[in-house]
Amino acid sequence: MKAAVYDRFGPADVVTLAERPTPSPAPDEILVRVGAAAVTTADWRIRAAAFPGITKLPGHLMFGFRTPKQPVLGVAMAGTVIATGHAVTRFKTGGRVFGFVGHGGHAEYVAVKEDAAVVATPDALSDTEAASLPFGGNSALVFLRDVAKLQRGQHVLIVGASGAVGSFAVQIAKAMGAVVTAVAGPGRADMLTALGADRVIDYTQESVDAARGAYDVVFDTVGVTHWGQMRHTLKPGGVFVPLNMAGRELWDMIRAKLTGGPRVALAVSSDTAEDLTRLTGWIAEGRLRPVVDHIYPFERIFDAYRQVESRHSTGTVVLEMNAQTATALSA
Ligand SMILES: NC(=O)c1ccc[n+]([C@@H]2O[C@H](COP(=O)([O-])OP(=O)(O)OC[C@H]3O[C@@H](n4cnc5c(N)ncnc54)[C@H](OP(=O)(O)O)[C@@H]3O)[C@@H](O)[C@H]2O)c1
Repeated sequence: MKAAVYDRFGPADVVTLAERPTPSPAPDEILVRVGAAAVTTADWRIRAAAFPGITKLPGHLMFGFRTPKQPVLGVAMAGTVIATGHAVTRFKTGGRVFGFVGHGGHAEYVAVKEDAAVVATPDALSDTEAASLPFGGNSALVFLRDVAKLQRGQHVLIVGASGAVGSFAVQIAKAMGAVVTAVAGPGRADMLTALGADRVIDYTQESVDAARGAYDVVFDTVGVTHWGQMRHTLKPGGVFVPLNMAGRELWDMIRAKLTGGPRVALAVSSDTAEDLTRLTGWIAEGRLRPVVDHIYPFERIFDAYRQVESRHSTGTVVLEMNAQTATALSA
């Protein structure tokens, strides 16, 4: 099979397409023919060993110190089950699935544990759309629901609202009944309003920290604001939730605890099949839709990485291998 492999940490050109043996599924695994895979900021950070601040040591422990532990990246994919181990009960050959594979998604085939965060792909989604869901969708859901504990009627400011996580965060905050202010660059207002934003701030025209005591939650998905800057924009019981976790954010969390008032909440998102099912539920209800920045053919993975690393993606960047179109659309 063709796979995108890397044997050292570094820039996008450390990744090359190579022939690798097609994996055989273990008794508790399924073998998926990958239709499409996301290229995410997580793939970029792992490939470049670009682990911010206090995540450096855990990052290297997980992904390798001198050389990468796993030669094929790709945290999220969508495809078709082509074989199942004899102990598998949840999936059948021929079924379409999508979700988190941890690593190995940037290949034509990947073996996945039956109990991984992988679920059936809704008929209405193509593989490229489904592959765009897990990373941004789950991160946004976990951070808004579990970390920020966002409640119906609350006001939330989402910084980086047009990115992979942000484009889902706007929709999920809206689906949870919040009032959403979305921050992004020029030309994003129509898209963000269509996703459900009540107000859009263009950060090149307007300061993100102009409001006073306006928000219950400030969710910074990019790492361009900090607690000291945003504190006064929060209500007294409000919370600042940065997705990036460097030393500064940890120190800010301690300072906020000591001084009282608005909190800082840090976390690492978890990936579960239940949350993917929650997302597909919202898709079925028409309250959530995937936002795909650009679909690159597998051979152009280098260009896909360059787009991700620009930090100006609109939604998720996706690689196409052997993608199936949506049943609903092709019927
Ligand atoms: N802690 C965790 O568990 C966890 C989970 C997931 C992700 N993460 C981290 O979260 C980060 C976000 O991931 P992502 O994939 O969503 O990023 P992304 O797609 O690269 O985000 C792009 C967004 O950032 C906006 N942006 C760029 N510069 C900006 C600025 N100066 N001010 C305001 N907005 C700006 C862009 O807007 P314009 O294009 O309009 O300028 C766009 O909306 C990554 O660093 C990732 O590693 C952490």
